[in-house]
Amino acid sequence: MMAVDYPTAKSTVMEEALQKIKVTKTTKSRLSEVDFNNLVFGKKYADHMLVADFDGKEWKNAQIIPFQNLSVSPSNAAWHYGQAIFEGIKAYNDQEGHPMIFRPHDNFARFNKSAERMGMPEVPEWLFIGGLAMLIDLDRAWVPSNEGCSLYLRPFMIAADEFIGVRPSDTYKFAIINSPSGPYFNKPIHLLVQDKYVRAFPGGVGYAKAAGNYGGAMYPTIQARKQGYDQILWVDGYEHKYLQECGTMNVFVIIGNKAITPDLDSGTILAGVTRASVMEVLGDMGFTVEERAISIDEVVAAHQNGTLREVFGTGTAASVAYVEELDYQEHKIALDTTKYTVGAEVIERLDAIRTGKVADDKGWNLRV
Ligand SMILES: Cc1ncc(COP(=O)(O)O)c(C=O)c1O
Repeated sequence: MMAVDYPTAKSTVMEEALQKIKVTKTTKSRLSEVDFNNLVFGKKYADHMLVADFDGKEWKNAQIIPFQNLSVSPSNAAWHYGQAIFEGIKAYNDQEGHPMIFRPHDNFARFNKSAERMGMPEVPEWLFIGGLAMLIDLDRAWVPSNEGCSLYLRPFMIAADEFIGVRPSDTYKFAIINSPSGPYFNKPIHLLVQDKYVRAFPGGVGYAKAAGNYGGAMYPTIQARKQGYDQILWVDGYEHKYLQECGTMNVFVIIGNKAITPDLDSGTILAGVTRASVMEVLGDMGFTVEERAISIDEVVAAHQNGTLREVFGTGTAASVAYVEELDYQEHKIALDTTKYTVGAEVIERLDAIRTGKVADDKGWNLRV
């Protein structure tokens, strides 16, 4: 393995990972079954996966094994009470074809925040970061180089107790699976501003990447899809007017020379790694970035007075997704995404960093 190009504790983390994670390689790669020119999102899985068990005290049995089913008891506590969290990260190839993972330490920190909120154990760095680096090293041929494609990395943790009483599980399973993926959306999206159903409340679990947040969003999303929308743009639960986020994305609104994105203070919004990156990139582009409460009324008013330029979602899976239509009650905000210069420059700058076309001054890439 090449040195991991990250400024902190890298050699100790990797040493511990190499010492503790047992590797069993596949004897039959499935790589030739994948059409890298026609990748869709999240359907194929790389040859290897990582698994580890928390026994109530420590993480054990860390292994990289051929991708396979997990055997889980019907009384598994995660299935019944929802102690389940996950992350989404991407690995890209640089210009010489070497894999790089984008900002995995941010996802590592968020994973452990989610774990804390859900009463689950923290995962150590050797297992999360070291495990990712070892996995990608082994499955480096699975990292696509085609435009708009990447290896989507999915670390997750579930309760593992075989017990159907309601209490926090004592044991847990951590795993990482990886999926060579194409674009999440292949065209600009239509969003419905949802003011009846609520995704998250202050004091709840909105800021955690907990499986239940997504489960709770399914029914309203099905209703929105039936009306022809791609996703919901959630608003706050008290006043039903302050923008929160979309299904799997944070949201940015460009009004004049300001880029506005909802602040994270209420704890109801997932602190997107892409969101943080886009804020920095927008700053580099000369925009004033405002992290603050923004109401749908403000967006409607900006549209009416001609200052609303662009609305886009940001997320690891979707990257930067242009919003072509934003509907709220009787208001239909139609936007001409062919004129999106801000979103376009953000994508270009982000992609250039993620694929090593420009120097990674921000230290965002972890080289494998
Ligand atoms: C609910 C939600 N909001 C926002 C995001 C964007 O976060 P990130 O940029 O870290 O992928 C995601 C995707 O992870 C998400 O699921």
